[in-house]
Amino acid sequence: MTSRIADFTPWQGAMPPRAHLQTDAPQTSLNGDWAFRLVGSLDEVPKGFGTAGFDASEFDTLAVPSCWQMVDPAGDAPYGRPAYTNVNYPIPTYGAGGDPVVPDENPVGLYQRTFTVGWDRDQARTVLRFEGVDSAFVVWLNGHELGFSKGSRLTTEFDVTDHLVDGENVLAVQVQQWSDATFLEDQDMWWLSGIFRPVTLLARPQFGIDDVFVHADYDHHTGAGVLRVEVTRAGEPVLATVSIPELALHEVAANVEHHLGQVQPWTAETPHLYEAVVATETEQVRVRVGFRTVRIEGDRILVNGRQITLRGVNRHEWHPVRGRSLDDETMLRDVLLMKQHNVNAVRTSHYPPDARFLDLCDEYGLWVMLEADHETHGFQAEGWVANPPADHRFLDALMNRVQRSVERDKNHASIISWSLGNEAGFGENHRRMAAWTKQRDPGRFLHYEGDYDVEVSDVWSQMYTSIPELDAIGAKRDLPEGSKLGARPQSENELAKPHLLCEYGHAMGNGPGELRDYSDLFDAHSKLHGGFIWEWIDHGVQATSHPSARRSATEDAGVHHLYGGDFGEELHDGNFIIDGLVFPDRTPSPGLVEFATVIAPIRIVVGEEITLTSVLSFADDSAYTYAWSVSDEGQPLASGDLDVPTIDAGHSVTVSLPEEICGLPAAAGERWLTVTARLASDTAWAKAGHEVASGQGLLSSGEQRIVTGDAIGVVSEPDGWTVGPARFDGQGRLVRLGGIDLDGVEFDLFRAWIDNERMGGGQVIKRAGEQIGLHRLHSKVLSVEEAEGTLVVTTRTAAAASSRDYVARFEWRAVGESLVLDLTAEPHGPWGEQMLPRLGLTMSVPTGLDQLTWFGRGPGESYVDTQESQKIGRWSAHVSELQTPYVAPQGNGHRSEVRWAQVFGEGESGDGVVGEAGFRVTVLGDAEPISVSLAPWSQHAIREARHTPDLVADQVNWLTLDARVAPAGSGACGPLPQQKYRVTAQPVAMRLAFTPLG
Ligand code: GAL
Repeated sequence: MTSRIADFTPWQGAMPPRAHLQTDAPQTSLNGDWAFRLVGSLDEVPKGFGTAGFDASEFDTLAVPSCWQMVDPAGDAPYGRPAYTNVNYPIPTYGAGGDPVVPDENPVGLYQRTFTVGWDRDQARTVLRFEGVDSAFVVWLNGHELGFSKGSRLTTEFDVTDHLVDGENVLAVQVQQWSDATFLEDQDMWWLSGIFRPVTLLARPQFGIDDVFVHADYDHHTGAGVLRVEVTRAGEPVLATVSIPELALHEVAANVEHHLGQVQPWTAETPHLYEAVVATETEQVRVRVGFRTVRIEGDRILVNGRQITLRGVNRHEWHPVRGRSLDDETMLRDVLLMKQHNVNAVRTSHYPPDARFLDLCDEYGLWVMLEADHETHGFQAEGWVANPPADHRFLDALMNRVQRSVERDKNHASIISWSLGNEAGFGENHRRMAAWTKQRDPGRFLHYEGDYDVEVSDVWSQMYTSIPELDAIGAKRDLPEGSKLGARPQSENELAKPHLLCEYGHAMGNGPGELRDYSDLFDAHSKLHGGFIWEWIDHGVQATSHPSARRSATEDAGVHHLYGGDFGEELHDGNFIIDGLVFPDRTPSPGLVEFATVIAPIRIVVGEEITLTSVLSFADDSAYTYAWSVSDEGQPLASGDLDVPTIDAGHSVTVSLPEEICGLPAAAGERWLTVTARLASDTAWAKAGHEVASGQGLLSSGEQRIVTGDAIGVVSEPDGWTVGPARFDGQGRLVRLGGIDLDGVEFDLFRAWIDNERMGGGQVIKRAGEQIGLHRLHSKVLSVEEAEGTLVVTTRTAAAASSRDYVARFEWRAVGESLVLDLTAEPHGPWGEQMLPRLGLTMSVPTGLDQLTWFGRGPGESYVDTQESQKIGRWSAHVSELQTPYVAPQGNGHRSEVRWAQVFGEGESGDGVVGEAGFRVTVLGDAEPISVSLAPWSQHAIREARHTPDLVADQVNWLTLDARVAPAGSGACGPLPQQKYRVTAQPVAMRLAFTPLG
């Protein structure tokens, strides 16, 4: 195969691509244990492999499907380890006029297994189907070479009829990791190899059905369906019938158009599928038909005559143990999680997924952008010189890729768009791929983001566009200063076509922020069609022990996840692969919860009235029931059902506040009205009662929070001061409150960086911030004075080698049982526009104080640009529940808009007393609410940790109380946070009361 691995050919000996059909013809799965051996290069392939009689009895055993590097990857890794690069190729590229060169070190997986054919070989031909082999492979049956194929995420079929024998047949497959196809498969993901999708043997009856192409249109004016089912054998139409019992369609002719009466259309909101049977004399094929019409009209994408908005995600295939081999359960889990979180669209970044996933999209209702297996991003580094899409030698290979994608998946109602791939520059081959696709399937729109002139793409697609630029695009204004495309008028093509974001909201680590701002723009401008969050899942590799954790290699470090660089890769991109809305084990991250809220199908605004707006395109709101509840200071007071007239898709209704509210007693504290929309009955993807949307409004703010009691003076003592319940040391530092030891109550600017601040564009936050020492600040007491019953302590917080500082003035006094703090802090020095992580207080409390109850946003973490999903309420959590276990540890866990918080526990307080202990912090008067975090480790420990086991609990818990905390943003790949969210050096003030409990 040496010559073939770099001769540009996509395949040889394979059958023409066609749809995967659900047929009544017999088939046999060849999944299971295969004999397997991995060798380091083609030279090491044992002589005679593939020939009849080759003895593989000394081989190991490997499961098919699987990725060979996922066998014990963090342990013995018998078949090598995963490797991660984003843009870079892990093998040398080549320049202008050069040839693709494939390294000698080219791992080769040798697979062998036997099978017998379970059907009458005289009655049927037999086809061998591989659904995914990464990367290039040759196949032999009983010593005959069947052919070879490239295209890792694409199906290959061989007609094996003439080489079958009675009894045991021997199948041998040789899989190479690297080939010229590698240059077409530079997606941002782990490099993994092997037969990683199913292998099947299929009987092909004589006079059977090779291929079916269902065209099922929906006329939204009349509600009628138009059906044409192309049925072919060897590329030619054949006599066949089509039946759809639900439509009383019995054995009508295939290959002709049928004008049907009323049908129920398919949409992602109403995924109605009709079971159709397509039959010839010898074969019956079942297809699920969804009637829908996708059109572009002007700058709008219409399905069944209505504009759609994509509230989508980019989905790579990933499982933390099995890599890119997914089982049914995992695929279903993805779809259920998406539906449960209001996601309505998927871009199959950046290759066709396992075909079974698309069945689920049809069934549960998700719009799909199906992407071809194509990315050549690594050529960008050298100015796209020698880029395959611009190299005619790759034309066949690239055409082969789109053809195999379209042919396999053309019958899925869910697919509304074909994408030519991702980040592959632009070249003549793109034009050819586009032309073929449009001619083969005019019923879907064509997408390619790298088509910067929007020449072949039916939509103007962008990535990571900033809010100001997106707003200008929506409003058809000139692109603003700072836009990636430069400040300029929009081109004709840009103005003419619909716009979508194939990627936005970079979900790496904590974030993404600003999702509400994007959603508001999608609503405001009909040219904008939403987009797809980057990305669905963190591709972390599960491990329990690993040298990269702080503990020893053999020690059990608990289940955690590894990322780029953890496998000794020569070149890698670290945790850039950990950028999903769900953690590797598919636990939803706070980012997904936030996205779900922002894209909820019903927007609920509670003011003097309640306004409910549907953002659905098709369905009315009859799937939901509404309820209201009132709480005072977070304590539930009253609740009931809310009567809402039917809301048609895209419409609003306004209803009065529930009458019962008038009869409630006077508010005790802040009174909030919460309105929720929940599923009225069970659906395929969630149970009745599942919350799909909510809104809150403040009914009355109650009395301002004050402390009462006598003012108690400051008592000076030999080694410090007593101020009511508090003790201060000789330096004026608060060391004890009630019975509790405290330490380090200091004005602070540092919280551990998050990925959006330390990667990509965001590095200007971290790099510049660390240059001026934000992570090595120290506080010094400048003065301590007693004045009119107040202890006034002035401190300076600054870093070595920098004159920038914050001078904080703490005015401490005692009122009744409480210690009251008036804090003002002012920056000095050349801070400029430097973005700061936070502005507030850091202190440590005994570990026994491990519970937090707060009145503010919760129950999850939230930042100024990620707080839509967190409701104002009274919440409680143990310190362990207040940490978000990001795979790459980083700043997390802040609770925002907190009015008061109680930190307490049953553990030991400072003086060895066991029992309920703690204190309450209250924001006084009209001071702004604060952000609060409680963690068993410091912000500095989080900054240094690389993996979750690196975080080891301290001897204290760390409490932060902040006037401002930096936003989550999207800077790891997207724009920096908008000015309105940033924290820069400004004066701040806080007014807090600390009241010991009990
Ligand atoms: C995009 C790319 C994605 C991914 C992302 C960063 O440019 O299309 O594949 O690499 O950036 O996470």
